[in-house]
Formats: sequence, C-alpha cells, structure tokens
Amino acid sequence: MKQNKEKITMVTAYDYPSAKHAETAGVDTILVGDSLGMVVLGYDSTTQVTLDDMIHHAKAVRRGAKNTFVVVDMPFMTYHASIEKAIENATKLFQASDAQAIKIEGASKETLELTRRLTEGGIPVVGHLGLTPQMVNVLGGYRVQAKQEDAIEKLRQDALQYEANGAIAVVLECIPKEIGEQVTEELDIPTIGIGAGAACDGQVLVYHDLLQYGGERYPKFVKHYANFNQYGTKAIQNYVDEVKSGSFPLEEHTYTVHK
Ligand code: KIV
Repeated sequence: MKQNKEKITMVTAYDYPSAKHAETAGVDTILVGDSLGMVVLGYDSTTQVTLDDMIHHAKAVRRGAKNTFVVVDMPFMTYHASIEKAIENATKLFQASDAQAIKIEGASKETLELTRRLTEGGIPVVGHLGLTPQMVNVLGGYRVQAKQEDAIEKLRQDALQYEANGAIAVVLECIPKEIGEQVTEELDIPTIGIGAGAACDGQVLVYHDLLQYGGERYPKFVKHYANFNQYGTKAIQNYVDEVKSGSFPLEEHTYTVHK
C-alpha cells in the first residue's frame, strides 16, 4: 500500500462489537491497543494493563473481525525483564490472540533485539515511537515529542533501526508533522501516524475517541466522527422515562400463553 501510495487506515478495537464495526466499515487494520486500560477499563494510564487483559480482549476482537489484519499491543513491562521472557510473552499473546502482528513501544537495544528475534521466529512486529504512553511516568506526561534537534535525530535513527531489525511498520505518535513526513520518506516500511501529520503512510485513531464514546477530554489530534455519549445517554433516558410512565413494554414486546 505504501508503494502504491494508498493510505492505510487503522482503528483500535477492544471487543466483539467494536471489531465488527471496524471490519464492516472496511478498515485495513485493527489495533488491539493497550489504550483499552484507559478507554474501556477506566485506568489513568496504560501501565495497569496485563498480558491476560490483552489476551482476553484480543480474542474477542478476533471473533468480531475474522478477516481483518489485527495488531495487538504488548502491555507494560512484559518485554523488558529479559529477552527470553519477552519472547515467551510475545509468543503467548500472538498465539492466543490469533493476531497478525504485535506492537511494542520504544527503541531500546532490547526492544530492537526483540524485534529481530521475533521476526526471525515468524512474529511480525510493529514499533511505536514518539509519545510512548507506557513511558508516561518517565516522560513526565502526555506531551508532543521530538521537538529538539537531538530528540528528532534519535527518533529518525530509532525508526531506521526498527526497519533494519525487520519491523513491518512504525506507529508515530504525537510528533511534529515535519518529522512525521521526514521519517515517512526515509523508511521503506509504512508509518502509521497518530498526531504525526498527514504525510504518514496511514493513520490510527482510538475507537472511543473517534466516536466520542465514554471520554471527556481528548488530545488535539483527535477528530470526532460521531457522538456516542450523546446518543447513548439520550437513548437510555428515553428507556427510563418509558418504563416509569408505563409506555414500555407494549403488547408487541410481551408473550402470552395463547398462540
Ligand atoms: O494503545 C493504543 O491505542 C495505541 C495507539 C494510540 C497507537 O498504541
């Protein structure tokens, strides 16, 4: 798709219905993001999410989207203790979720080595650079990354290293659009941007952000395509009113002993 200059669409999904929506809408790829910790489970960050959480949700996504390319996130600290443990965890997640690829954040010596080892073993890897939410406590908050010369250079080199180690794509989160464009030009593998400008080879948005489903505050890079909060709350209010007033259920919603 990159070679054909066809933009790649990715959306997150966390369960059977969201996966079904995404597949029916025709997205190219689904990401079972560890953002599920925040948008589905109500945590303050992604650092509470476990490998079992990811497996549980990814399996539901696969059941809802049998024919879509699925990428699943390796959660917090499941790929840092040792290369052996990281490979074991990645294999468990990949096999249990029946995904097409796994995603890891950052580009340390260890994550790049993991990318190479998993690729050699048959597990495709997507790298995640720029704002890496699992590092929020080290980064000091959710901030735009790669603004200074040395950070820009590091991000460029990290992206090239991901490619050299076999990654199939790189997610670029919350970086200036000029850097998104530069990295996209420098790589043969696709870049998938989220707050990284229009020049990236593809875009990813979080399902709950795109649909305004549950959240209250959203980053600048989000565009809302619907307002599920409004529709959902209104619908439930109507239901409550109708039950209270006796106008639901009607005869048509009711069984009788007579045929
Ligand atoms: O977890 C997630 O949803 C992500 C996207 C923001 C890229 O990693």
